Amino acid sequence: METLALLGGETVLKDALPKTSTYGKEEEQAALAVIRKGIFSGFLARAGERFLGGKEVLRLEEAFRSKFNVAHAVSFNSATTALDAAVCALGIGPGDEVIVSPYTMCASATAVLMNMAIPVFADIEEDTFCLDPKSVEKRITRNTKAIMVTNLFGGSARYDALLSIAKRYGLKIIEDTAQAPGGMYHGKHLGTIGDIGIYSFNVHKVVQCGEGGILVTNNNHYAFRAQLKRNHGENVLDDMDIKHEPIFGSNYRMSELHAAIASEQFKKIDHLNQIRIDLAAYLSLGLKDIPWLSPCHVLEDTRHVYYLYPILYDQAKTGIPRSLFAKAIKAEGFPIDEGYQKPLHLLSIFQQRKIFPNSDFPFGSKEYPTAVSYEKGICPTSESMWEKNLVVSSLCKYPNEKKHIGLFLKALKKVFVNRDKLLSYHG
Ligand SMILES: Cc1ncc(COP(=O)(O)O)c(C=O)c1O
Repeated sequence: METLALLGGETVLKDALPKTSTYGKEEEQAALAVIRKGIFSGFLARAGERFLGGKEVLRLEEAFRSKFNVAHAVSFNSATTALDAAVCALGIGPGDEVIVSPYTMCASATAVLMNMAIPVFADIEEDTFCLDPKSVEKRITRNTKAIMVTNLFGGSARYDALLSIAKRYGLKIIEDTAQAPGGMYHGKHLGTIGDIGIYSFNVHKVVQCGEGGILVTNNNHYAFRAQLKRNHGENVLDDMDIKHEPIFGSNYRMSELHAAIASEQFKKIDHLNQIRIDLAAYLSLGLKDIPWLSPCHVLEDTRHVYYLYPILYDQAKTGIPRSLFAKAIKAEGFPIDEGYQKPLHLLSIFQQRKIFPNSDFPFGSKEYPTAVSYEKGICPTSESMWEKNLVVSSLCKYPNEKKHIGLFLKALKKVFVNRDKLLSYHG
């Protein structure tokens, strides 16, 4: 066993972590009912009822409307396509800029590029890991149209400051809440505070159906544009014979099977989130005894739902490089991620400013003559989180229990106590 080479003795976690899934009889029956009925999609790219999809898709959308108290919910086949539709719904296009965090899943930024607009990266805060309002304000130019607020790891961004900036500069807010359905800010559901919010149902998320996403908004126009984007809008509009600004759509539609499973999963959201919250509270308490690790910070009057549990790692206090620390923890039987996500501005499409092999569009085009900066160093907090300061735990979720969190805490302490040995063999 690798741990013997690392620290000696028994691993802290002797049995593998439990692997029971959150799918149960309810999901099974809902899926079976769709199969027996034999109607796997209710969509048709024509005007009329079928423009909006089938019974299961409508059921899922209604569940979101009523739980999150929003006027519109539009399902998609992923959160990525929902984000693309959100940017499109706001009418953002070539020459426009959207301010995005570099410390998020890449789709938050590529959704902007899909609309041929330019992502401009602002830095994050050290405590929320979400957009830093001060950095956002510095990035605003006359091309800025919107701020893409990612509620990272299940926690809330600092909305008071971000909303006030948006109001002052006349900007729209898209909330990428892929990781935080059920999270709250000052009594409001994350994803329902700005102009448009999106959630993901991919296989890692709290509510999951394999692949899927949903967009929510209180604005009729944005909802209609999102529906057009989802379902071949160019065809449907001609069919409807109404006046509408130009739009071309795609097939971003959700199947009846996915919607049926997502609806059943969505009924469990509070229960599944509560398990995460309870385990995270236990972990936070335990981390207070470990001066070289900082527990997750939660903004006042918000509800964090712990898609992942972020922990600040202080190498100056342990003397153990983060990579060796993570290796030792993994050898003790626990998953741990170093740094979460390479800051997006450092990805090669941004470094090269190229999304087409034969053109520099939309960068360096007549619509966008500005030279946006993606240099290393523009977002120092995101970069230091990636390079050295952050580790991320995925332990706080069903079916794990407090005993697993207790063992994780034990493993953290074991690594520290054995640091000299660790460093002399592996440093
Ligand atoms: C913050 C964030 N945004 C967007 C997405 C994209 O979600 P999907 O996989 O449903 O397209 C993810 C997925 O992990 C995410 O974490």
